[in-house]
Amino acid sequence: MRDIQNQDDLYVLVDEFYKKLLADASISYIFTEVVKIKLEEHLPILVTFWSQAILGTGGYFNNLTQIHLDVSAKEYLSPELFNIWLNHFYAAVDENFKGEKAEQIKTQALSIATIMQIKIIQEKDK
Ligand code: HEM
Repeated sequence: MRDIQNQDDLYVLVDEFYKKLLADASISYIFTEVVKIKLEEHLPILVTFWSQAILGTGGYFNNLTQIHLDVSAKEYLSPELFNIWLNHFYAAVDENFKGEKAEQIKTQALSIATIMQIKIIQEKDK
């Protein structure tokens, strides 16, 4: 198995990841009912985001934490949901890639998820 090397690889990864999220009723409703994402628009944004994070390309300018605070204001993004999200992400990485970047992207996802959860808790306590 090879490592993540380019944006085509990231597209494969996010595509496989979202197949898992959307097939899991315990989290899919966030993407189909709370926010009705359009996959064909959403996946390229995810590729740009991860490309910036992992491959060092630029191009992602949105406020990712704020976007998730807004989602959580509609439907609370609980620690359970974050666990489910992370487990599908790890599985999508491990089933398709192996190497330094594959490890790096999982660590990054966990760091970002941790920061998001802290912000979500802070927002709840306001
Ligand atoms: C419980 C966990 C999570 C859920 C349910 C979730 C759900 C969502 C939803 C519904 C959107 C679309 C928002 C919109 O277009 O208004 C979104 C966007 C996004 N999410 Fe998450 N998310 C979660 C965690 C994460 C984490 C941990 C990361 C990164 C490590 C992440 C990365 C992204 C990115 C890059 C976008 C695109 C934002 C943009 O349009 O600029 N998400 N997420």
